[in-house]
Amino acid sequence: MKIQIDTQKRTKEIFDLFGIFFEDLNHAADGGLYAQLVQNPNFEFLPIDRWDYHNLYAWEKIGGDDAVAIEVLKDNPPIPQNPHYVKITGKRGTGIRNLGYAGGMVIDKSDTYDIFFYAKGNTRVKVALEGQNKNPLCEKVFEITSDWKKYTHKFSPHTSCDSATLAVYLEDDGEACLDAVYLFPNDTFEGLPIRKDLAQALLELKPKFMRFPGGCLVHDGSLEDTARDSMYRWKNTIGPVEFRPARRNNWQYNQTLGLGFYEYFVLSEKIGAKPLPVLPAAYNPHRMLALPLDQLKPYIDDCLDLIEFANGDTSTPWGRKRAELGHPEPFNLEYLAIGNEEVGDEFFERYAYFHKAIKEKYPEIKIINSSGPFNSGSEYEKGYKSAYENGSDLIDEHYYCSPTWFLANMHRYDNFDPNGPKVFLGEYASWGNEVYNAVVEAAYMTHLQNAPVVALACYAPLFCNVNYINWQPDLIWFDKNRVVKTANYYVQKLFSVFQGDYVADVKKEGFETPPPKEENIAGKIIFISDDTEVSISNITVIDEENQKIYAFEDFSLERREQKELFYIDSKKYKLKFHLVKRGGNKFKGLIVNFGYKDDHNRHYWEIGGWQNQDLAVSHRVEGKSTTLTESRFILEENRQYSLCLEVEGRTIKGHVDGKLMNNIEDKLPVIEPLYVTASVKDDEAYLKVVNVTEKAQKAEIEFLREKALSGMVHKIAGYDKFDKNTFDEPDKVKIKSNEFKHSQNRFTYEFEPLSVTVFAFKINNGNGGTS
Ligand code: AHR
Repeated sequence: MKIQIDTQKRTKEIFDLFGIFFEDLNHAADGGLYAQLVQNPNFEFLPIDRWDYHNLYAWEKIGGDDAVAIEVLKDNPPIPQNPHYVKITGKRGTGIRNLGYAGGMVIDKSDTYDIFFYAKGNTRVKVALEGQNKNPLCEKVFEITSDWKKYTHKFSPHTSCDSATLAVYLEDDGEACLDAVYLFPNDTFEGLPIRKDLAQALLELKPKFMRFPGGCLVHDGSLEDTARDSMYRWKNTIGPVEFRPARRNNWQYNQTLGLGFYEYFVLSEKIGAKPLPVLPAAYNPHRMLALPLDQLKPYIDDCLDLIEFANGDTSTPWGRKRAELGHPEPFNLEYLAIGNEEVGDEFFERYAYFHKAIKEKYPEIKIINSSGPFNSGSEYEKGYKSAYENGSDLIDEHYYCSPTWFLANMHRYDNFDPNGPKVFLGEYASWGNEVYNAVVEAAYMTHLQNAPVVALACYAPLFCNVNYINWQPDLIWFDKNRVVKTANYYVQKLFSVFQGDYVADVKKEGFETPPPKEENIAGKIIFISDDTEVSISNITVIDEENQKIYAFEDFSLERREQKELFYIDSKKYKLKFHLVKRGGNKFKGLIVNFGYKDDHNRHYWEIGGWQNQDLAVSHRVEGKSTTLTESRFILEENRQYSLCLEVEGRTIKGHVDGKLMNNIEDKLPVIEPLYVTASVKDDEAYLKVVNVTEKAQKAEIEFLREKALSGMVHKIAGYDKFDKNTFDEPDKVKIKSNEFKHSQNRFTYEFEPLSVTVFAFKINNGNGGTS
């Protein structure tokens, strides 16, 4: 095999290609990146956030019931936005204790800690950080008065402890009211309330942009501005933290909003990433709530005001606000996303209003449209249609797929319209943190870099606190004081740090690969009712290849029942049946497994999937699922549907009442011996080569414009397919770097099995080369 690189032939300007996506799920913000240590600081955790939450969640009483009473009150609160507070009535030495997040608070004696709280009452209170056996690490007594007042103090603990708690004691018999108890370490990232070790992990990635604050967190809320579970409204997230109205986080917890838009903008700046905020479009696809079109103004104003907040000079109201918060210089916002993976016509109807208003006032802002949560199907197509009609600059694609899907779809973007909207791959991952996942993602990233239409891409999700897992895999795992960077993280790092400004032309020789072997989608057909009750009738399977017709008796399924039909191995067959949903959970439908080999290897057709909104065809390969295509569909109760699933080779079609609703080819992977991309930045060239096979691959490499080569080679190599970093072995998988020198412009290199290799060379572009 031969690889020739011409660094003077530039095929694409790369701009801001590889970035990150921050969303507060898996406690990425509260209990994570946000350094504040008190959990439930304003007594606002409520069952609306999570069924078992209550105002005293993460707090416990100090003293028995006979000695102390704790009441949660709402009358005359010091902070109307967060109205609950507590009243402690008891004897001296009783009080209330905050346990922090899982495992307690990490207190380091070399750091100092700022505490503030609001209090009133007729007794003094003592605030203490306590370690093992409740031994004080530091404490302070405060005189309080009968009126609400904010108290502040800087603690210097004399002992360290990584499982500390914060206690508030009555210093005299009496009563004290308490609210908004916040504790911040001072040794944080760049003076922000941000954990240093986690921010450092972001900094090292050198992301070119940061998408925030979500994700589903942005649009899954009610439409009323002030509702406790409202959609994410950025104006609520700036200013003094205790006045930011705590709200439901759709990942089943509470968000204090202590990390808000100001912090996100500053963080982006400090890590060298362009900010890429996502705002809701007054439409919630999870609950199918849409604000009437004539009431969109406050949401559209949120977009316009955000641009002014980010870019306006300090004579503008929102520019002034930014300056008051501490940042007179603009944040230079370039990108704004409207919506996050919306499904439903209601979104696209609304998007047009947002787009028009933003472009009229700020034509320079690049607006990002949304194409739903899947890589193909009706909502995906609606997204593109809308992007073309409105002239969206970019369109956000999301997909979480099996490694097999990524390998089979390497060339996905090769034939995209170069004059259409640019692709923002805003969320993707290959279901795993093992070396194999990371290497497959790296191979895919070579194509993302090469494809002219792909402008931005970021892995998702970014962070996970191991004690609060909502979603995995994730790029960076952590607990209260440890960070685990995954193999996937190191791949992202290699691509981002060595991104380059231009893609350089690469010629490959000897890379020819045989077409994939033909493979029928063979296996059992099994019907499964997903928490619903269904009747199935008129069932036939027509095996067109072998010219046979099979008829089956009608049957009914109660909730979570299943019925195996039979095994079929045919190049071409149709499964036809009538379906009636008789009852059960209205958000659930029927699943038809086909090509079923075992639970980990099968295809399935979901009829009323994802909250009964989808008609989706998926595969599961070695336990990793991919939605191959999805169309919007709601399975109504007591209505008879005529369904037909058609399988021809690798093409799968789904018809409902004679209408073609799903149509997808489940391609088999064609494994290329090596995946290659090259890029240039100033006087450096980067050559990235990925070997996803389990054998070494040798190639001759030639840099056409150079005479000699000198620089570094960085690689992830020498690992087993299933190796991964864990809290016990956080450094098992990492980047290994070595100097690399060659007296000529060509060399032969053996790329190790399952490896990602990046050469970073100084270049002279034909002016002599280095030696
Ligand atoms: O990244 C996790 C979630 O996946 C995001 O919130 C959402 O956009 C997607 O469904």
